[in-house]
Amino acid sequence: MGHGLLSRLGAVANTTGRQIVAIDVRELDETSRRYCHHTFVGDICDRGLLDRLQSQFEITEIFHLAALLSTRGEFVPETAHAVNVVGTVNLLRLAAEEARAHGRRVKFIFPSSIAVYGLPDLATKRAAGRVNESQFLEPHTMYGVNKLEGEHLGRYYARHYRLLAKDRLERPIDFRSIRFPGIISSDTVPSGGTSDYGPEMIHAAASGKPYACFVRPDSKIPFMTMPEAIDALLKLADAPESSLSRQIYNVSAFSPSAEDFAVLVRKAFPTSEISFVPDLARQSIVDSWPEDLVDDAARRDWGWSPSHTLQTAFDHYLVPKIRAHYA
Ligand code: SER
Repeated sequence: MGHGLLSRLGAVANTTGRQIVAIDVRELDETSRRYCHHTFVGDICDRGLLDRLQSQFEITEIFHLAALLSTRGEFVPETAHAVNVVGTVNLLRLAAEEARAHGRRVKFIFPSSIAVYGLPDLATKRAAGRVNESQFLEPHTMYGVNKLEGEHLGRYYARHYRLLAKDRLERPIDFRSIRFPGIISSDTVPSGGTSDYGPEMIHAAASGKPYACFVRPDSKIPFMTMPEAIDALLKLADAPESSLSRQIYNVSAFSPSAEDFAVLVRKAFPTSEISFVPDLARQSIVDSWPEDLVDDAARRDWGWSPSHTLQTAFDHYLVPKIRAHYA
């Protein structure tokens, strides 16, 4: 998502006047670097690096995309907490200090996730159907716990930070967050997530590899395409604050079962070999995530509207782009 966002922000940087400073744990590729005024290789847990950024730049807006996802996080929960929560606190603090130093609020855009939800069992998930922003907030994974905490931290730093301090700056941060479903990109295969079976299935088929899907065919969670996800982030970031009735928004596009997904993959790539070999632990994570989301507030407040159905996502984005990618 970071790379896609960089190219979108970079493409309009001349008109918006935004200068982009990027941090990644790995060296950015040449194309991404072109969009940036400055790049740093480093870790958001490194307070020294963030102090350097603060002294070198006047920061007006932060897109905080760094995280360890839900599958990876279950192998190293404390590391996930360090990156996902302590890293988030470091950036929120940086934003608040920037606001104090320059006397203006800093915008903070935080992608949250369907992983914040935790439905207790499959029967409850099926009965619940579409879930709104305040239901079932008892995540099963460290990543989900961390994202939910990130949302609370954002609300705290935006509204109540240093509540009792005499020299307190009121509302230093304009915090906005989207709970994303699984995201499918034509360019990259994700790693360490539990919604990865969607993108893995289609990338495997396009590159001529067999794929054993790690969830049951009837498993159902919401997905969207990467360009839509980036559109959503930018739309929320640019919305006038007066139109926002909340800080955390669900967005939804399409909600296929893993079998629905496989049917379209097989149609597009007739020689693909897809089997279902559920991994019970990863399955339990998917079963704890909602089938679909109520996203009325995002539609009403900042004009969210998905650009794809499952079918058009395949026909107009995934299949042509992934084919070109592996050609
Ligand atoms: N894609 C994420 C994951 O699978 C969910 O937000 O962990």
